[in-house]
Amino acid sequence: MSTDLLAIQARAEELRRLINYHNYRYYVLDQPEISDAEYDRLMNELREIEAAHPELQSPDSPTQRVGATPAEAFRVVQHRIPMLSLANAFSEEQLRAWYARATRLAGRELRGFTVEPKVDGLAVSLVYEERRLAVGATRGDGFHGEDITQNLRTIRRVPLSLPEQAPRVLEVRGEVFLSKDAFRRINDERAREGQPLFANPRNAAAGSVRQLDPRITARRPLDIIIYQVGWYEGGELPRSHWQTLQCLKELGFPVNPANVYCDTFEETVRCALAWEQRRETLDYEIDGAVIKIDDLDVQRELGEVGREPRWAIAYKFPPTQATTKLLDIGINVGRTGSLNPYAILEPVQVAGVTIKLAALHNEEDIRRKDIRIGDWVIIQRAGEVIPQVIGPIVSRRTGQERPFELPATCPACGTPIERVPGEAMARCPNWFGCPAQRYERLKHFVSRDAMDIETIGEKLAEALFRSGLVQDVADLYSLTKEQLLTLERMGDKSAQSVLDNIAASKNRPLARLIFALSIRHVGLQTAQLLAAHFKSLDALMAATVDEIDAIEGIGPKIAESVVEFFAAEENRKVIEKLRRAGVRMQDDGGGRDGLPLAGLTFVVTGRLQGYTRLQIEQRIRELGGQVADSVTKKTTHVIVGEDPGSKAARARQLGKPMLDEAAFEALVAERSAKRQ
Ligand code: IVH
Repeated sequence: MSTDLLAIQARAEELRRLINYHNYRYYVLDQPEISDAEYDRLMNELREIEAAHPELQSPDSPTQRVGATPAEAFRVVQHRIPMLSLANAFSEEQLRAWYARATRLAGRELRGFTVEPKVDGLAVSLVYEERRLAVGATRGDGFHGEDITQNLRTIRRVPLSLPEQAPRVLEVRGEVFLSKDAFRRINDERAREGQPLFANPRNAAAGSVRQLDPRITARRPLDIIIYQVGWYEGGELPRSHWQTLQCLKELGFPVNPANVYCDTFEETVRCALAWEQRRETLDYEIDGAVIKIDDLDVQRELGEVGREPRWAIAYKFPPTQATTKLLDIGINVGRTGSLNPYAILEPVQVAGVTIKLAALHNEEDIRRKDIRIGDWVIIQRAGEVIPQVIGPIVSRRTGQERPFELPATCPACGTPIERVPGEAMARCPNWFGCPAQRYERLKHFVSRDAMDIETIGEKLAEALFRSGLVQDVADLYSLTKEQLLTLERMGDKSAQSVLDNIAASKNRPLARLIFALSIRHVGLQTAQLLAAHFKSLDALMAATVDEIDAIEGIGPKIAESVVEFFAAEENRKVIEKLRRAGVRMQDDGGGRDGLPLAGLTFVVTGRLQGYTRLQIEQRIRELGGQVADSVTKKTTHVIVGEDPGSKAARARQLGKPMLDEAAFEALVAERSAKRQ
């Protein structure tokens, strides 16, 4: 080799080392040291060298992540040590039974466990020879997998080479997965291209990593975490699993930062069970928590039964997905006339709850996902939200399924429906005559975030509407006790409390009233902006589109909708009736300065016990405070709930007072007392 070429080779190696180092800082430690532009410069320089001197190319070069040529089929790889699976525990009791058995077999009380989120993806093995990635393979049947090295190379967080201190030969195991967000984007793209949808992130990850063309894999934002060492030679690793994980991180592997070490089994159980609630806070799907005994000597002692180790167990959450038959598609008419299709399902159990109905969004969404009546569909129930139909199982079609057609007329009032170009929702334009819309508006008017007439629940609202006693929301204020007593199951006492509750609602802040009116596109936040700006309903009613549009945070679509609402004769009549009934229609001028939280600006982060996000924000505003999205110099207090985000860290950095809910209530009480 000429001296020139030697110098170029040295530079190429230097660049590879630098790029690998910066990849590690960026992808594993999340602490980049250089800008993206500087990184790109290093990468380009290396690409140029490799293009000019193909003999200097190397398969572990960071330039090789993009994927080379498509393969015909995957080569079969034999795992030197079988890749085991895990026994499952579906309850706390089964978890305890596992521990009891392990204790008995070990002949002593066991201490020291790790609890790791069970990432729902695809198990892979990475073999490093002479500290370079040599083979990446799927788990396959545990003994033989498929060689997907090319594809695994495309994943940014897979180190292509390891530092000096790594064992000479090392096999690690981990899980390849997609974030929830990436999964959604891939499915959106597939829907646009008319391809069948992936049922869940795991399938999407498996489909992506098993692509014969690595260029396709490279375009999928796959990620990986490493959770285990398979075997190693020519080096030392700790005899504790937890320490091994720390060591893997130092070698450049992405180890899950959500893993924890627990000393006692009680702590371990608590931690594993807690993940079921916390899973929503992760941006990737998990289907359980993996518990492992930390001491590797104890692991070896306990060994395995069949293909499952005795030293580890997966605590599995109840599945949140199920498949069932879509019997029909119903249509619900919303309070502003939108026609909302929903799925009528053959009843099915999901996470302990029987599901008969699920959300379907809108007509366009149904068409996009090609959901047909009679299809087998995948449904998902996450947390407290309404179950969703994810998509059809196309392979189970019999040919009897029929596409969904939105009716030409409103199912509640028969008026021809309207479609606005560019809007996903079809609507019933019969604002005043359509009984479904009027009933939905009544329910909304009394709801908690609106006029908060809590004694009128769904049943009573329906009875009031059906009996004709309440035809529009203003009729609530002329109800008499005699009228209420004509309703079924209504006693004197409850009638009185309904009337008291209605009377109390006359005095709600202006923002709630505006929100309660069901103006299209006006949610609680917009209503708050409108109230703060106009201070009275009369001023808002007299405003032009331009005046409303000029308010920060409000766009032309909302402005037009507000003006259109107040221009309608029927709406003005209802408002006059409300006025005559004594419903407050302005916020007291200047009164805000006297409110307990006047002058304070709050940021809220994390989950609270006693409030939803909307409720706490509303409470702060009603007490005269302001709510902001991010922590800045202007922030005076940060309310911190469970699992707070980066805002809490920022608040700490800026030295802002942090309050939990109790401290917030104490602050309100203290400031209210001062003002009396
Ligand atoms: S340990 C012998 N740790 O769960 C132990 N597995 O049902 C082998 N998984 O095949 C696995 N996260 O695909 C382990 N932190 C974790 C895991 C994990 C996800 C998957 C893995 C495995 C399956 C077992």
